[in-house]
Amino acid sequence: MSDFVKQNVQWFPGHMAKTGRQIRENLRLVDAVAEILDARAPRASANPDIARMTAGKPRIVLLNKCDLADDIVTAAWVRHFAATGLTAIPVDCKTGRGLKQFKTALSRHVEGKTRSNLAKGMAGKAVRVMVLGIPNTGKSTFINKLAGRKKALTADKPGVTRQNQWFPIGAGLEMLDTPGVLWPKFDDPAVGDKLSFIGAVKDSVTDTQTVASRLLALLAERCPGRLQARYALDTPLALDGAALLESVALKRGMRAAGGQPDTERAAAVFLDEFRGGKLGRISLETPEEA
Ligand code: G4P
Repeated sequence: MSDFVKQNVQWFPGHMAKTGRQIRENLRLVDAVAEILDARAPRASANPDIARMTAGKPRIVLLNKCDLADDIVTAAWVRHFAATGLTAIPVDCKTGRGLKQFKTALSRHVEGKTRSNLAKGMAGKAVRVMVLGIPNTGKSTFINKLAGRKKALTADKPGVTRQNQWFPIGAGLEMLDTPGVLWPKFDDPAVGDKLSFIGAVKDSVTDTQTVASRLLALLAERCPGRLQARYALDTPLALDGAALLESVALKRGMRAAGGQPDTERAAAVFLDEFRGGKLGRISLETPEEA
């Protein structure tokens, strides 16, 4: 499937240089960065360019969608980031969990800047922050939640596409209302797989049945009980994803014309249920897994 994704990277409009430039321009305006990752796959959903682009600026990592990830694994990620000198905070932008901790951590990280503003007689000058991350990690939801806005600003294009606007988030802090969007990195095929599983790579550029089969095979290995419980599958579970997908179709009574299992429909339903947390809170990678 990852080869499939690679063949379809035209999905990425070819504006990467321009995107990088726009983000760099905006980075010049800010004192700190919030990098949003998906808590279910913090490594796969990271773009290593962010560390490079933001070198020298305080950076806080947000493990978003922590409501969908395994708490124990998320805690291990927090320790892992701490060991590398980064503050990571589990957040759930839908409910707002973790946002207070983010603001507290941010105030701490920019203390030096606040003090130097004071020393320069600019006590009222806000300390500014911007959000960075790959598509679909929840950047817009995060910004809207912090800004107390209902209506989402769309940020599905790379770069920072709108006129900059700043809004106060308390304690002398201001946030750029549009995130910087970077494309994910695909060098490792397993990364492409995980990004497809969590929906960070759109289904329209992948083969849904292949994605579903691969995820089924992974879950059969990692948490067979969840699959078994959700789809009443016979045990021991087949480890072959395609066979599992057929079983899901049959158990759900999904049959195509001719009576064959409707694996296309089953794939769409299964991916939807996984992404919606219906199989429980599942992390796809741990810090120990290289
Ligand atoms: P982006 O700007 O980084 O591209 O992501 P965006 O905020 O558009 O969020 C992508 C999807 O992730 C949205 O779902 C959003 O609701 C969901 N999301 C964001 N934060 C969280 C979170 O902490 N937990 C969970 N469970 N979901 C989160 P969607 O299906 O695209 O839209 P909708 O369900 O909001 O209609």
